[in-house]
Amino acid sequence: MSLEKIANQMVQSGKGILAADESTPTCKKRFDSINLESNALTRNQYRDMLFNSPELENYISGIILFDETFTQKDLSSGQLYPEFLSSKNILPGIKVDLGLTSLDSAKQEQRTIGLEDLYDRSSFYFSRGAKFSKWRSVFHITNDLPSDQCIQKNSEDLAEYALICQSIGLVPIVEPEVLMDGNHSIQKSYDVTSKVLNLVFESLSSKSINFEGMILKPNMVLSGYECSSQSSIEEVAELTLQCLKNNVPSSVPGIAFLSGGQSEDLATRHLNQMNLSTNPWKLTFSYGRALQTSALNTWKGQSSNIFPGQKAFLNRAKANSLASQGLL
Ligand code: G3H
Repeated sequence: MSLEKIANQMVQSGKGILAADESTPTCKKRFDSINLESNALTRNQYRDMLFNSPELENYISGIILFDETFTQKDLSSGQLYPEFLSSKNILPGIKVDLGLTSLDSAKQEQRTIGLEDLYDRSSFYFSRGAKFSKWRSVFHITNDLPSDQCIQKNSEDLAEYALICQSIGLVPIVEPEVLMDGNHSIQKSYDVTSKVLNLVFESLSSKSINFEGMILKPNMVLSGYECSSQSSIEEVAELTLQCLKNNVPSSVPGIAFLSGGQSEDLATRHLNQMNLSTNPWKLTFSYGRALQTSALNTWKGQSSNIFPGQKAFLNRAKANSLASQGLL
């Protein structure tokens, strides 16, 4: 399948992407919140509950997996997850970055790692059925941050990642995440997100990335979570769209937002509001927490809670499917 065809399938109408690629330490944090031990088996059981939700394929076009899950099996059929998901018409994807390292001696900023052996690792995932990949960079907002160096280095790395993945046949999800922790205003969030997106697309252009064969996964433009004045849903939608329209070429087929710590409900409402207007790209979701929080809290690691957990998960998936069409 061509890159363009995969990318269009990922953002097809009424569907979005489940980010189930929490690293082992992040998964432990999530499981701690429900007092569940995090080990290979409980992580497998949790993902199994999500992936087996009835008719999930009506709302979810693709799932981003973590390396461990990529080689785990569906508990009833014994199929490896990439194979299992493909049989359900859900595209298997893989997180290929290896997390973050300090960029400066003060350890304030981070750079994403994993480029050294990226070609080999990604070729392996491709040969085992992966159709797309994900690489996440992070940017902190303070009075002085993010630094130009941080934006520059991470943008170049995102472009290098996209180039390698496209050369293999994987659609790269390019995820520059401006974090919304802090008390900054929505205007500051707008300015920083604009600057980051501008440099990311400059770097992607300089490496001649095929925009039609990639997906952008950005943050929404929000007030910092500790800011005393929180913006309305309308303002968030308006500023996010303005920021994207100024910086993202219309040849990119789709933008799939991260939720970034928003509540499940707000992440859905913001997406819906943006889809009330006509936009140059498909606007959908690639949420982790905003799709999974209720499901995890309902499941609690108990096999007797699998069906209620799936019901909670499908509720979010359906609401976001409607929001991706402006139909909420
Ligand atoms: O990299 C981050 C995830 O893919 C999205 O997670 O929706 O919980 O921010 P989130």
